[in-house]
Amino acid sequence: MSDIRTVGVLGSGLMGSGIAQVAAAAGYDTVVRDVAPAILEKAKTGIEKSLAKFVEKGKLKPEDRDAALKRLRFTTAVGDLKGSDIVIEAVTEDLAVKNALWTELDGLCGPRTIFASNTSSLTIAAMTGATKRADRFVGLHFFNPVPLMGLVEVVRTVTTSPETFQRAFAFGKSLGKEALSAKDNSGFIVNLLLVPYLLDAIRALEHGVASTPDIDKAMQLGCGYPMGPLTLLDFVGLDTTYKIAEIMFAEYKEQKYAPPPLLKRMVLAGMHGKKTGKGFYDYATNPPTVSNLGL
Ligand code: NAI
Repeated sequence: MSDIRTVGVLGSGLMGSGIAQVAAAAGYDTVVRDVAPAILEKAKTGIEKSLAKFVEKGKLKPEDRDAALKRLRFTTAVGDLKGSDIVIEAVTEDLAVKNALWTELDGLCGPRTIFASNTSSLTIAAMTGATKRADRFVGLHFFNPVPLMGLVEVVRTVTTSPETFQRAFAFGKSLGKEALSAKDNSGFIVNLLLVPYLLDAIRALEHGVASTPDIDKAMQLGCGYPMGPLTLLDFVGLDTTYKIAEIMFAEYKEQKYAPPPLLKRMVLAGMHGKKTGKGFYDYATNPPTVSNLGL
């Protein structure tokens, strides 16, 4: 049983909003921090819509939805997270941004507060030094969309105390997720295997092996995957994927993690996937159309 009552979430993008939703739905008082009120407003609307869908499908009682929404608080002030028993960080995949927040929060939070990062590709060890609580630091890596995906990777770095790991593991399970223990290597379990596959799909497109929809269909029908790799990339976010690839390439120096030039060009053009309306597909229409990438 988790002894955690209050959850702080840093970042209210794709992942932070999902993490906040599942924490509030699981009964935790949850405070979410992002940098601007408009971003928080968008996250709040997204959470309301997502919870409404659970109610429509009969998977959540209306009164439980209302109770979950009451447990959520949105703020631009980092100081509002100081009473958290656990802080889960889901801000942009940038070590300097993450570590500036960790240093600030380390001075604010109590001694038993666990710090947990949802990073996709950085090591937890790269963050512990920004604080004086290296023993109370873990990775808690969720999957997108958080309310629907059943896994959380719980990452123990070299300094994580057994007590912290157990508390974080119990907390992950209390959110209704399967918790799996992973070593603090860049990419943990899933991204170590998934990222080269996604980047190879972009390389296949770049080299003219097949069209965007055919690459997607091939992996769906040929391998039984629920979604093709280029569609999945649009859901993950091309900007985030680019940062992940750069970090994993710098870590392993292996070509399979190198970001393909096409990915970089799309990110520079503001094509970040579904969240900006355009990536490998154009989401202006329903169903989306295939983007013309000038290949
Ligand atoms: P996103 O771009 O949707 O959201 C990032 C949010 O962080 C934005 O709302 C931004 O305003 C906010 N932010 C930036 N600086 C901040 C600060 N100083 N304080 C508070 N908020 C700040 O990115 P996404 O996809 O949610 O990724 C967040 C983290 O989760 C990254 O570390 C990423 O690698 C990881 N992740 C992403 C997954 C995905 O499928 N997109 C899956 C699992 C992990």
